[in-house]
Amino acid sequence: MFHAFFDKFSFSHMPPTQFFRFEYEADQCTHCKACVQTCPTSCLQWNEEEKTPYATGLSGIELACIGCNNCEAVCPANCIRMRGEYKVLKGRYKTPEEKSGDMTLPCPFGQSDRNRNFEEIEKDLTQTEKIIYRRRSVRLFKDKPLSKELIHRLIEAARFAPSAGNGQPCKFLVVTNREVNRKIDQKCAKILKLINWLYAGQNRWRKILIAILSAISANKWDQRPIAAMEKIHMTNGSITFDAPAVIHVLKDKRGISHPDVDAAISAHNIILAAHSIGLGTCYIGFIASTVAFVPAVKKILKIKYPYEIVTSICVGYPKLKYNIPVPRAQVPVEWIE
Ligand SMILES: Cc1cc2nc3c(=O)[nH]c(=O)nc-3n(C[C@H](O)[C@H](O)[C@H](O)COP(=O)(O)O)c2cc1C
Repeated sequence: MFHAFFDKFSFSHMPPTQFFRFEYEADQCTHCKACVQTCPTSCLQWNEEEKTPYATGLSGIELACIGCNNCEAVCPANCIRMRGEYKVLKGRYKTPEEKSGDMTLPCPFGQSDRNRNFEEIEKDLTQTEKIIYRRRSVRLFKDKPLSKELIHRLIEAARFAPSAGNGQPCKFLVVTNREVNRKIDQKCAKILKLINWLYAGQNRWRKILIAILSAISANKWDQRPIAAMEKIHMTNGSITFDAPAVIHVLKDKRGISHPDVDAAISAHNIILAAHSIGLGTCYIGFIASTVAFVPAVKKILKIKYPYEIVTSICVGYPKLKYNIPVPRAQVPVEWIE
């Protein structure tokens, strides 16, 4: 019993991990740097002397990669791969055994799809399925404003999302003023900086504090968001990527059953509708997760009881072209027949 308890709370800080494998074919590279620009963490960097991207880590994290494979999706020469498996080997974030196996491209018609290329599979898919598999989180936007009509169109998609008891507990807050977005980013980034300082420190007291915080607040101390925070610091605290619009999805806390679920469903209607009309989006969780510690943000956004941000979405015209769907880890599926 003691062993199980120890295993649960230990290694919340930099657990023993097997990381992805970075593969790169230098002779085909066009040196466009799109892979580095699109990387959401500080993992991919550019070596100016050798004119190559290289994958790197943080202090204590061998490879600061969350395995989103956007580097692969934007590469015009198809010369980058992040392969293998991300597996936490011990402790609170230990990867479940049934998640094992290499990442694969979409196989909607079964395992035989593994031998077909996606363009071929896509011919048999519906429009909705194509959007699902081709959507990527977009973090680089053209400097082109979004019309109010287009944003309205996205919110209409959210309005028609299902909700528990048809309670419709959501509210949407659209910010197209970039100065306001930057101000919010800066305020939330300060909290993230503090978390980074706590996490990356080798000091014994910081480690103990992280272990305690991890015990109190599960799921907040995984090393992957820490890698994304590092990028935020490298880009001067930009959390919302200077997107032309940020839509905050709020829930009425008094909503029926689990209003967070209703809000998430509405948010995803926005995301899929946006991609279907050629816009790019990215969920931003860092605002919802820090806002409680920065009352000034609530004040700027005029958020009052009973509302609370569940998630935020950056929207704009994508700067880069995302050419291919990307592989994903295996998902455990159990059948009771
Ligand atoms: C609830 C939620 C919160 C997220 N928060 C952030 C965020 O704060 N910053 C960011 O760059 N990406 C964020 N993402 C995007 C994920 O990193 C992304 O979905 C994941 O890496 C998979 O990549 P894909 O969306 O391109 O398939 C978030 C995604 C979700 C679902």
